[in-house]
Amino acid sequence: MNRFLWGVATSAFQLEGSPYADWTSWDDVLNGKPDVTNHYALYKQDLLLLKDLGVNAYRFSVEWSRIQPRENAWDHRAIDHYREIVDILLENGIEPMVTLHHFTHPLWFAKRYPWHEDVSVGKFLRFVEKVVPALKGVRYWITFNEPYVLVLAGYFEGCTPPGIRNSSLGIRALRNILVSHAHAYSLIHGEHPADSRVSVAHNMAALAPWHRWNPFDTLLARIAKYFYNHSLLDAFLTGILRITFPFKKETAIEVPIRNTLDYFGVNYYTRVHMRFNPFRKMGVEMRHRDIDGGGLTDMGWEVYPKGLEKVLRYASKLNVPLIITENGIATRDCQKKIHYMRRHVDVVEKCIRDGIDVRGYFYWSLIDNYEWLQGLDARFGLYRVDFKTLERIPTNAAAYYSYLIKSRSSGLAEN
Ligand code: FCB
Repeated sequence: MNRFLWGVATSAFQLEGSPYADWTSWDDVLNGKPDVTNHYALYKQDLLLLKDLGVNAYRFSVEWSRIQPRENAWDHRAIDHYREIVDILLENGIEPMVTLHHFTHPLWFAKRYPWHEDVSVGKFLRFVEKVVPALKGVRYWITFNEPYVLVLAGYFEGCTPPGIRNSSLGIRALRNILVSHAHAYSLIHGEHPADSRVSVAHNMAALAPWHRWNPFDTLLARIAKYFYNHSLLDAFLTGILRITFPFKKETAIEVPIRNTLDYFGVNYYTRVHMRFNPFRKMGVEMRHRDIDGGGLTDMGWEVYPKGLEKVLRYASKLNVPLIITENGIATRDCQKKIHYMRRHVDVVEKCIRDGIDVRGYFYWSLIDNYEWLQGLDARFGLYRVDFKTLERIPTNAAAYYSYLIKSRSSGLAEN
């Protein structure tokens, strides 16, 4: 690895939708806007935006449900489509980083082989076997985006597909996802032996007690921090996943993921405060609070750049290079967006100066897109999208990011 990767991140479904995905029928927003930004057709013009920005890397995902719309049907045009994106990036000197799984599934998979069924692993790997050899020239891979978010929202809260509220099934699902990661890791290295770099993208947050003087809040924050941020890291180091929930016995399960990371992808956005509330599930209440005056974003998330340092420091114990695979802010206010970016990149630079091996920063996101439970209102894009005309409109934040890349690159070049 040599160049510091300055990138932007997207995911296929959030930009292009898919007629065959589980999320398509999950959310009313998508009945009115099934193709979201119509990136599937407009990808060439969107890739030009990357050139305008001056990024040297681009993280995007391939939409499994377009590639395998039915269990026994592969759409080769869809594979070619993603292959073409890779080719365009390579021709332009932009490093592709491909996410294989970013929250969505083909409907047939979701209905018949959801992640809590052990057969899910084999079904997912058939897709990986098909797509990985087709994407020649890709070095950076992310097998799963935010496995914990997928399982917590889909199996504990039940607010996203598959919409189940059952924590034991959730833990089985998480195990199968991690087993799939391990197999996909070997598969990718088998196919692209020389220089492939594989990771997951793990969502990490700063987690703090609501009231520092309250021992229950402090205990909750500590348990949450271990589970949400750290248990996955420990599982990569030891092969054992320890799940601790408040007022429950610890569960330890074996997961074959030791030595299956070439770098570690960190998605960081915010800090969350926790408090003990006996009327809530497991006694946990969570809230974003604007304590340090950093403000809240349109997602209601606290702007807390210091948290990025905390999570990077912790992740550095994995002893692999770190890449910030997502960091961004939903706001229509460009000044706020610029401020957010600058303060987080400052933290990245400080961490590098302190000896933490950070090799890249990807801003989420290139253009406004479909933000899951928030629909089309959360504006993360460097380019604004007019969802009626589909026009992409450059913002000052885009200009600022280009400037940031140019002005900071010298200090962050060779590692
Ligand atoms: C992350 C997701 C990404 C996007 C951002 C805002 O958790 O990985 O798809 O929605 O949040």
